[in-house]
Amino acid sequence: MTSAPASSLPRHVAIIMDGNGRWAKKRYLPREAGHYAGMGAVRETVRAACDMGLENLTLFAFSSENWKRPKTEVGALMGLFRAYFRSDMDELVERNVRMRIIGHRGRVAGDIQQMIQDSEHRTAANTGLNLTFAFDYGGQEEIAATAREMARAAKEGRLDPETITPDLFASRLFTAGTPDPDLIIRTSGEHRLSNFLLWQSAYAELLFLDTHWPDFDRAVLAGALEQFAARERRFGALDSEAVA
Ligand code: FPP
Repeated sequence: MTSAPASSLPRHVAIIMDGNGRWAKKRYLPREAGHYAGMGAVRETVRAACDMGLENLTLFAFSSENWKRPKTEVGALMGLFRAYFRSDMDELVERNVRMRIIGHRGRVAGDIQQMIQDSEHRTAANTGLNLTFAFDYGGQEEIAATAREMARAAKEGRLDPETITPDLFASRLFTAGTPDPDLIIRTSGEHRLSNFLLWQSAYAELLFLDTHWPDFDRAVLAGALEQFAARERRFGALDSEAVA
């Protein structure tokens, strides 16, 4: 890959939605109120992404580590996902959004699994924004599952280990078919990836914002895209001035 200035609009934006709890605490509200407000920010961000013509948006909705939270909070989060699928699916279909959910699947309740399947099925032919929710997702788990599957294929003679390249590996990940994120945003001030898209983030620009997720909106997204446009991406090559 060659040195290139960032194109004005990233092809793929991925967001670690952090800070619901802190947003609620600042307002003396229970954490669940922060998650509820976070759902509003999801809605607003998806609408903005559609209006801006973004191709791919991935949102980290529930990590494989989030099961360690108190049962009541996990229950409240699951309730919100149900509510979101019920209330927003028609609008997503109308907006030509294609939905995809990446993650473990087998550990969530049966009715949520069904909603996930229905949403993917219902939007499969849509051609607008590709909206991916990382749900019960962990990057290390994803990489281990892919390696396990490829090792099994090699053992059974269906795969020649010598043919394994980064591209082949990527084509077996949950995200196969989606370009790697150009921009990963994390809200609420922490500077880490927290097991999000570990393989796919190799060349992503990282942007850490102090905004708590429930305060994220169209204007914050537009500001983040402006910051991205101002960065030069080199993919390991020299910058354009050094090459000239
Ligand atoms: C982090 O806030 C956020 C989450 C654990 C999950 C994200 C969930 C939502 C945005 C709510 C609903 C989403 C959908 C798709 C309906 P935190 O609790 O870790 O915040 P804290 O670090 O301030 O405690």
